Amino acid sequence: MSFDLVFFGGTGDLTWRKLMPALFQAFRHGKLPPGGRILAVARDDQSDEQYRVWLKERFQEVDTPKRPSDEEFARFAELIFYRRVDLSQPEHYQRLKSWLGERNADTVVLYLATSPHLFPVICEQLGAAGLNEPHIRVVLEKPLGHDLKSAQEINRVVRSVFDENQAFRIDHYLGKPSVQNLMALRFGNALFEPLWRRESIANIQITLAESIGVGTRGDFYDRTGALRDMIQNHALQLLTMIAMEPPSTSDADAIRDEKLKVLRSLKPFTPETVVRDVVRGQYRAGNVDGKAVPGYPDEVKVPPGSRCETFVALRTEVQNWRWAGVPFYLRTGKRLAARDAEIVVNFRPAPHSIFPGENQPNKLVIKLQPEDGLELHLLAAKGTGGQHETLSPVFLDLDFDKAFPTERVGAYERLLLDAIAGRLNLFVRSDEQEQAWRWVEPILEAWGRDGNGLRGYNAGSWGPPAASALVARDGFTWSEEQ
Ligand code: BG6
Repeated sequence: MSFDLVFFGGTGDLTWRKLMPALFQAFRHGKLPPGGRILAVARDDQSDEQYRVWLKERFQEVDTPKRPSDEEFARFAELIFYRRVDLSQPEHYQRLKSWLGERNADTVVLYLATSPHLFPVICEQLGAAGLNEPHIRVVLEKPLGHDLKSAQEINRVVRSVFDENQAFRIDHYLGKPSVQNLMALRFGNALFEPLWRRESIANIQITLAESIGVGTRGDFYDRTGALRDMIQNHALQLLTMIAMEPPSTSDADAIRDEKLKVLRSLKPFTPETVVRDVVRGQYRAGNVDGKAVPGYPDEVKVPPGSRCETFVALRTEVQNWRWAGVPFYLRTGKRLAARDAEIVVNFRPAPHSIFPGENQPNKLVIKLQPEDGLELHLLAAKGTGGQHETLSPVFLDLDFDKAFPTERVGAYERLLLDAIAGRLNLFVRSDEQEQAWRWVEPILEAWGRDGNGLRGYNAGSWGPPAASALVARDGFTWSEEQ
């Protein structure tokens, strides 16, 4: 199968930091289908060779194990081409069309790695140039819109040019191997499914904690905030994976239908429940990994007096028979104590204990990063004898990086290969994405009316104390406090 992969925004950060390195990994692992060409397009005037030299320099900034040797880069570079495209010029799209027409690849993937405000204009121009035939796919990067209205507008334009099954909306969390394993755990094994419900589960916690700050992205971040940047997409997608009903097949739409049902079952927020159930915070100066770091207001390009949230913790429920009454806590933040993304399923305590002491209920920890694994926490007897032996916590620890050392594929690598192969399972459908916006909208509105609820937290902590209080109110604690 021959393919042409075109990166709009070919000189942008996303292309050289994430996409090209991911493609290179696919190339190195021999996973890139043969007969492919990679075309970067951008405004600058440069030749294929100049672009390759520029890209090679950029690769020096990539993590060492992922960096190509000179020989590897030379072979990879043979697949890479560059064309100047001014996105507002119809004749430039015609030129692109002729370039693609030179050999009529079986599949064409157009990856929009540009600022999202350009998506409508690019899609319209692609449509006008006839670059929307069935073998052509378009990949859209987040943020897809700023709120429900803008997301709907992007989707309207995309749909006026492409069919839904030509549109690949990326949420890179869905490409993480741990998320594949969550599907495997739930739907490839019969063990957990009978327990995966309100009768056995006390609460579920999804934590996406980062120890990094906003870096040099202060201006973008300040317009976005943690709710839009991480909760509306990544955290909600993980929640759908945890809470969805078993799909009847592994087809993309069978999976996405079930995910959509979860999003539609989420308890809607009201102005009162936003105040009660959503905590927002902004980091102050502090210490991360033993190093002093500035507070958010002092980060580069952050406007003075910013009220932007860098932390969100919230409580929600999935209103259906399986999950009624089970709290789902979502939490994300920058400059927290550790880089740690995990889903914790806390089971109910044993109904009657014959052992002395306070016995921790079982929990299942699905670790997304830095490690990729599963921990099942149980109680065991040490075997020290005596009539009143207390139980001790132990856990079964599965490390997927160790279990499958050579076969692991990174999130972008996986998603790029899926887009080339036309597999939509790990991409977000427009109705899912809009429903996620619909659900966060009352929070955005309530915050827009009341700027007072923003709480400070020290860099290097686990966020404002109010986040612990949110969980404590239901008689629970966050996983790291257990
Ligand atoms: C991106 C956000 O979508 O995800 C970033 O815009 C965030 O702010 C990043 O840092 C986190 O991704 P990962 O894969 O490093 O957890």
